[in-house]
Amino acid sequence: MYCVHIILLSSLVKPKNVLMLVIDDLRPALGCYDDVQNKVLTPNIDQLASHSVKFTEAYAQQALCAPSRVSFLTSRRPDTTRLYDFHHYWRTFAGNYTTLPQYFKENGYFTQSVGKVFHPGITSGTDSDYPLSWTVPAYHPPSLKFTYTKVCPGPDGKLHENLLCAVDVEEQPMKTLPDIQSKDYAIAALKNRSLSDDPFFLAVGFHKPHIPFRFPKKFLDLYPINEILPPPHPKLPLDLPPVAWNPWEDIRGREDIAALNISMPYGPMPDHYTLLIRQHYYAATTYMDGLVGDVLQTLDELNLTNDTVVVLFGDHGWQLGENQEWAKYSNFRVATSVPLLVSVPGMTSRDPKYPHKDPFTGYGQPSPAKYETSAFTELVDIFPTLADITGVGTVPQCPEISNDVILCTEGLSFAPVLRNISSGQKQVNWKSGIFTQFPRPSDTPDPISDNPGLANTTIMGYSTITQDYRYTEWVHFNRSGFHGDWSKVHARELYLHGSDPEESHNLAAKVEYHKLVAEASEILHLGWRHALPKK
Ligand SMILES: *[C@@H]1O[C@H](CO)[C@@H](O)[C@H](O)[C@H]1NC(C)=O
Ligand SMILES: *[C@@H]1O[C@H](CO)[C@@H](O)[C@H](O)[C@H]1NC(C)=O
Ligand SMILES: *[C@@H]1O[C@H](CO)[C@@H](O)[C@H](O)[C@H]1NC(C)=O
Ligand SMILES: *[C@@H]1O[C@H](CO)[C@@H](O)[C@H](O)[C@H]1NC(C)=O
Ligand SMILES: *[C@@H]1O[C@H](CO)[C@@H](O)[C@H](O)[C@H]1NC(C)=O
Ligand SMILES: *[C@@H]1O[C@H](CO)[C@@H](O)[C@H](O)[C@H]1NC(C)=O
Ligand SMILES: *[C@@H]1O[C@H](CO)[C@@H](O)[C@H](O)[C@H]1NC(C)=O
Ligand SMILES: *[C@@H]1O[C@H](CO)[C@@H](O)[C@H](O)[C@H]1NC(C)=O
Repeated sequence: MYCVHIILLSSLVKPKNVLMLVIDDLRPALGCYDDVQNKVLTPNIDQLASHSVKFTEAYAQQALCAPSRVSFLTSRRPDTTRLYDFHHYWRTFAGNYTTLPQYFKENGYFTQSVGKVFHPGITSGTDSDYPLSWTVPAYHPPSLKFTYTKVCPGPDGKLHENLLCAVDVEEQPMKTLPDIQSKDYAIAALKNRSLSDDPFFLAVGFHKPHIPFRFPKKFLDLYPINEILPPPHPKLPLDLPPVAWNPWEDIRGREDIAALNISMPYGPMPDHYTLLIRQHYYAATTYMDGLVGDVLQTLDELNLTNDTVVVLFGDHGWQLGENQEWAKYSNFRVATSVPLLVSVPGMTSRDPKYPHKDPFTGYGQPSPAKYETSAFTELVDIFPTLADITGVGTVPQCPEISNDVILCTEGLSFAPVLRNISSGQKQVNWKSGIFTQFPRPSDTPDPISDNPGLANTTIMGYSTITQDYRYTEWVHFNRSGFHGDWSKVHARELYLHGSDPEESHNLAAKVEYHKLVAEASEILHLGWRHALPKK
């Protein structure tokens, strides 16, 4: 009788909505991540964390926007999407893979994209993969077109195309900023959804803290420059193979940084600018946090909170001067690691509420996450996980070659981790590591090293991160077969995270680590399938 009752009830319950918040270039420098080097005020994301499971070991599959996004939206890794750059659309270049929103759409959801979800342009077809992925055309904020124009007031009183771009919003073209427009549109979209009986999948992508650091200037007041800490290891790593280096051309190219005449490729950022860039990244993050708070509060106002799964993550990380590096474009852990928060009402929390929090008034200690886990997760896991926890479906694991398989995953649903951890059970058996990669044009740094494009890629750096280390092999890349050639190794990296969390000393060439390198190499070659939990 009891069972019948439950089944009847659950068949009447409307499936949960999904709000997916994708933040561009966001590393886990957030209040709720207890980052002592980067004390960033993020009261709204912290509040989300207080109802969520927080993943401390979550990684992107490639530290570049378009490849990472196509990877997590199709749940396939770059060698399967064949996208390492900004030049191809997977449906015509790799296989006609079903996307995460498409799967929800095909299962009765209203799906909508606001802001940067797919990277706009060729990599997502003509219109962010509409109509296959989305019920209505994707929204892109019109004021985005000023990103590469002279809109940043400089010390000389003139407008420049600067990296550091704290602005008076009223003086900006259109008197707004892209993420403010996306926030307003997301709120309007939620109001529309609250009038409908269909479940929704709403993806909202914020552009900040991606460069340029264009945000309302008041956010700088929260970060006095004399309180900003330098990065813990600001020098070139010992024994770094040159192929591993990314010369952060996008940063060098902005007017204010170009004027510093920093030498290519290793020339260090002047100390004062190191602090300024860190300060601006933090301020841009707090600005974005407030917009996330506005969207979350709207769920409350529309009585949608209890019925909506919320997931928030970065598309990849960002180097803030550690190892003399900036931006993404590498295999360093700070470039590949991301924050990942998942709130499932009824599972991770009871009756969550999201009143907007203002970082300028009475904001004290960050609220801790409701639950925390160091279970390894990869962004390719998000698709099967969301499908699993909403009951939309079980996504099958991809075969070795999956170009002809429309629906499959190269990730793994981490719903079992969510369920166990939020019911007080131990998480005992999970992935033993994660896998990520980055292409290079040459053994030595080149102006195109950050983003060589497939046509110029000759080397691929394949990495695995396990409990103890990051191990990377830079190998010859077969451009027509879309795979590395393990027999042609250009360089290796090994960093022991216990003693060297900053990855500042490459031990791969040291005799005493040859045995570990051999073991790590085998793990890397066996790949992600062999890192899955043992059945
Ligand atoms: C992919 O499949 C969809 C149907 O699901 C079809 O409409 C579309 O034309 C296909 N695209 C390509 C490039 O084959
Ligand atoms: C809300 O719905 C109306 C009517 O269908 C539509 O015109 C409008 O574009 C929708 N707005 C958003 C933000 O989805
Ligand atoms: C950078 O180089 C230009 C041209 O050589 C020179 O005018 C300028 O003073 C240099 N700036 C710095 C900060 O060294
Ligand atoms: C939300 O629920 C409250 C309390 O049940 C009710 O007063 C309010 O009108 C509802 N708001 C909306 C937008 O449905
Ligand atoms: C939210 O959902 C829980 C069950 O998951 C239920 O106990 C609670 O009453 C709901 N709250 C509201 C305001 O509907
Ligand atoms: C979840 O808990 C059950 C029971 O303790 C255990 O058998 C299972 O392996 C756990 N799963 C994970 C992913 O930790
Ligand atoms: C290859 O590199 C050259 C510069 O070295 C550049 O002009 C060209 O656009 C690159 N091709 C691709 C596909 O990125
Ligand atoms: C590249 O890979 C393809 C497909 O795996 C293979 O047929 C080809 O021989 C490879 N090319 C080289 C130079 O190894």
